[in-house]
Amino acid sequence: MTKNRQWLLAERPYGMVGPHNFKYAETPIPEPKSGEVLVKNLFLSFDPAQRNWMVDRKAYLPPVAIGEPMRAGSVGEVIESHHDDYQVGDLVQTTGCWQDYVVAAPGEGPMGLVKLPAGVSPEMMLSVLGITGLTAYFGLLEIGQPKAGETVLVSGAAGSTGSFVGQIAKIKGCRVVGIAGGPDKCRWLKETAGFDAVIDYKNEDVNAQIAHHCPDKWDVFFDNVGGPSSRQP
Ligand SMILES: NC(=O)c1ccc[n+]([C@@H]2O[C@H](COP(=O)([O-])OP(=O)(O)OC[C@H]3O[C@@H](n4cnc5c(N)ncnc54)[C@H](OP(=O)(O)O)[C@@H]3O)[C@@H](O)[C@H]2O)c1
Repeated sequence: MTKNRQWLLAERPYGMVGPHNFKYAETPIPEPKSGEVLVKNLFLSFDPAQRNWMVDRKAYLPPVAIGEPMRAGSVGEVIESHHDDYQVGDLVQTTGCWQDYVVAAPGEGPMGLVKLPAGVSPEMMLSVLGITGLTAYFGLLEIGQPKAGETVLVSGAAGSTGSFVGQIAKIKGCRVVGIAGGPDKCRWLKETAGFDAVIDYKNEDVNAQIAHHCPDKWDVFFDNVGGPSSRQP
């Protein structure tokens, strides 16, 4: 491939994001300078945070500019290196964006340039050992500080973050109640992820079910969704 295929942000979203928000482009492959590497993207991460990055408002990161490649976390392979710490063939995590190739350097951009530890697959690096896993781990253990025997309530429980939160809480000896949408997700949470109880917010009365499964209320509520499910009595 001689071109860098890119999806650029064309229009900021109002409501749901759609194809009209993006524009396809083909540009020359960027050339790394001293201290930089050229990475071929192999995996892109799709996260709710991307919706926020598309909006022009003050946040922990500047918004993606109109005409820039859409920002995304990624894992890719170093195919050209001008940095002594990175060799051709290294797998790295970086902010690859929606494109084939990105120039990256350690300490640059929201995600820097991190080599995958031995034995860690790209999928693991973008999930349980990546930002999702870190959010679940530190959010639950440092902010929530649950103790063994306590009840942890998790919304968006079958999502990437929520499912890790519930499993970490179980490891810590907590009782875990998850809120998710639909019988398939609820079954998976109980049978595979090991949640103690689940509430199907699409088919059940959430308040009544929380009262049923958390008769003494919860000790920690890890809220992944906001909206009505955050306004429990
Ligand atoms: N992923 C990260 O690295 C990361 C980092 C920092 C913060 N966060 C935040 O953590 C939260 C979850 O992120 P995630 O990556 O785990 O997302 P995810 O895997 O996409 O899961 C989110 C789940 O939320 C549920 N949901 C969506 N709309 C809902 C609504 N209106 N009411 C109730 N449930 C709804 C959906 O499950 P149902 O089908 O069950 O409705 C969806 O699967 C987000 O607020 C995100 O911004 C994530």
